[in-house]
Amino acid sequence: MTNGNRYWQLAAHPEGTDFASAIKLVEEAMPTIGDRQVLVRNLWLSLDAGTRMWMTAREDSYMAPTPLGSKVIGFVLGRVVASRHPDYTAGDLVRAYGQWADHSVLIPDLGDIWKLDTIVDMRQHFAVLGPNGWTAYVGLNEYGRVRPGETVLVSAAAGATGLLAAQFAMQMGCRVIGIAGGAGKCAMLTDRYGLAAAIDYKAENVAARLGAIAPGGIDCYFDCVGGPMLDQILPNMAMNGRVAVCGLIATYDKADRSGPKTFDLVLMKRLTIAGFFSPDFYFRGEEINRLTRPWLDGGRVDMEFDVTDGLENTLTAYGKLFSGGNVGKTMVRLAD
Ligand SMILES: NC(=O)c1ccc[n+]([C@@H]2O[C@H](COP(=O)([O-])OP(=O)(O)OC[C@H]3O[C@@H](n4cnc5c(N)ncnc54)[C@H](OP(=O)(O)O)[C@@H]3O)[C@@H](O)[C@H]2O)c1
Repeated sequence: MTNGNRYWQLAAHPEGTDFASAIKLVEEAMPTIGDRQVLVRNLWLSLDAGTRMWMTAREDSYMAPTPLGSKVIGFVLGRVVASRHPDYTAGDLVRAYGQWADHSVLIPDLGDIWKLDTIVDMRQHFAVLGPNGWTAYVGLNEYGRVRPGETVLVSAAAGATGLLAAQFAMQMGCRVIGIAGGAGKCAMLTDRYGLAAAIDYKAENVAARLGAIAPGGIDCYFDCVGGPMLDQILPNMAMNGRVAVCGLIATYDKADRSGPKTFDLVLMKRLTIAGFFSPDFYFRGEEINRLTRPWLDGGRVDMEFDVTDGLENTLTAYGKLFSGGNVGKTMVRLAD
């Protein structure tokens, strides 16, 4: 790192997963902060699939598009190096919506910044105790409405959000089936994390396998993927089942965003389909952590971390989310 600040600039809207043509590493002078702002040295970047949506020009998305020419935004873990806000002092450790950069300029009055406790593995502030964990917890409870003894299906189950949803559902007393790409990920889900079964959607017929292992149907589908896979799952839903629509990564970078051909089953099976967006409930993060922290401390839930070193390698790491090259939470380490 130089004395300046490097940042990733959204120069154009990416085509598909060609991030390198659209997002450029730019260097600027060290930012100066205004009144009630904070400057943070980013230690870790959290790479999240949803960021792909804000890179598009879509105005009808769940978040306003990132303006072209501006810094790519995302979650960071970092240390305050300068503060003109009375609640923050140099040295504070924070998680925040910052920038894909060496340093983030933050405006605490807008929210989206949290002072952090020091815990054994700080990366869990992005995972079990962070936005992915809050998404999994609220999605299962309030949109999937899971109950002990139910069968829960989770897609992208070896990714950050899915791996937490799968484990949390087990803690809630459910029988959990995961869907993931590749035999290695599936073996990890059953052997290391104790899921009842895992389906390799790249090699197996998902519908046929579900029919065999969940003949009574799926009570809750925690969907991280969307796209064509739904046509294999809706016929396998139980009567009065719930689909908690967490994410649609199969179509974020596609022109064709059409829905399932088997949509009529929503009526035939009296299904409920509900989407949810975690920033709507970030303010409940600490309350949710009080419920999930004992699971983490007791070794009952955990996370895999897919770590890439160096800000300059961010785009390579980001591409993994869309190719399935990551296992668990994808992060970029900028400094210790
Ligand atoms: N609603 C919310 O507030 C919220 C919050 C957090 C995340 N999410 C959503 O949750 C999903 C996961 O996000 P994440 O950041 O935790 O990423 P992640 O699960 O760690 O990584 C994405 C995973 O998706 C799978 N995938 C990619 N393309 C796929 C496709 N076409 N078909 C099936 N699987 C595919 C890949 O695993 P395989 O190897 O298994 O293919 C990849 O590992 C995303 O849809 C994201 O938008 C939503």
